[in-house]
Amino acid sequence: MAVRTIEWKHDRVIMLDQRMLPHKEIYRVCRNCQQVAQAIRDMVIRGAPAIGVAAAMGVALGASKAREKRFDREFERICLTLSKTRPTAVNLFWALERMRRVYTENRSRGVETVKRLLKEEAQKIYKDDIVANKQLGKFGASLLRNARQVMTHCNAGALATAGYGTALGVIRALKESGKSVEVWINETRPFLQGARLTAWELKKEKIAATLVTDNMVGYLMQKGRVDAVVVGCDRVAANGDVANKIGTYGIAVLAKRHGIPFYVAGPTSSIDLDCTTGEDIPIEQRDPKEVSHIFGRALAPKGTKILNPAFDITSQDLISAIITEKGVIHPPYQQNIRNHVSH
Ligand code: MRU
Repeated sequence: MAVRTIEWKHDRVIMLDQRMLPHKEIYRVCRNCQQVAQAIRDMVIRGAPAIGVAAAMGVALGASKAREKRFDREFERICLTLSKTRPTAVNLFWALERMRRVYTENRSRGVETVKRLLKEEAQKIYKDDIVANKQLGKFGASLLRNARQVMTHCNAGALATAGYGTALGVIRALKESGKSVEVWINETRPFLQGARLTAWELKKEKIAATLVTDNMVGYLMQKGRVDAVVVGCDRVAANGDVANKIGTYGIAVLAKRHGIPFYVAGPTSSIDLDCTTGEDIPIEQRDPKEVSHIFGRALAPKGTKILNPAFDITSQDLISAIITEKGVIHPPYQQNIRNHVSH
């Protein structure tokens, strides 16, 4: 695979520092759980499934260094530290839960066994994510088989996952199935995941793509230059409402206005049945400087009031279908999501 987002190597977690892309490919080495937590908080690694994998590896790494006498207390501290990094992507909490299950189910077998099993579980979460993305890519490619011009927002690619990607996984699978596809990449202000990361990934994969600013979406749709939209997700509520990168909601509204199908792609680990609707999903508010500054330079006058929500909620009525590794969920979502998850 061309992009190595995260890796477990010699009891260390290695991550490609996504803040440096597209200009530099620098790998950061995390030697303890605090460094992994910091990397998630600072967006060295980002994207819902990748955050989940990083959190799982953070638990395994932290646990591997915990002393036997204080193991239980340490384990709790590690999970708490990681849970406080970013609030919106449910994959982080899903991964922590999976790691906790391994711990509780095997605690009586001794600390060394638990440490080994935690490492194995983190690796499994990593590998399963790649398999899930390839699978959902195939389902998505079949659904989008007639789309030639596909729009995406943010980065839901290999960089946002253990590999292959969700929304970009669908686009990769379309290309692999022999279709000629052209991608509209929205730049994704303020963190520019589209311009910096998606453009970099698609260039590496030799997939034809054009970068546009976020306010060009309506123009393109009006001109008939978008056949379908496919985005990733950070959390899907039980009724089908979706939290994804800020700006997603506006694109979905425009897609509906122009009769363009709007698809969400993500693994079932992004579905949170405990959230009844999108209103229950916590939205991360980030540093105002991400809006007021660009590459360290101020855009707005000093003292300008800033708002920086990192995600928004796309209501379920705007979503044509949700693609997971198990297949395609069509409306009505209320019942279909529950059935999909339990099968
Ligand atoms: O703030 P980020 O970069 O972590 O946000 C990422 C997104 O919103 C992605 O679209 C989402 O996580 C899906 S990634 C497969």
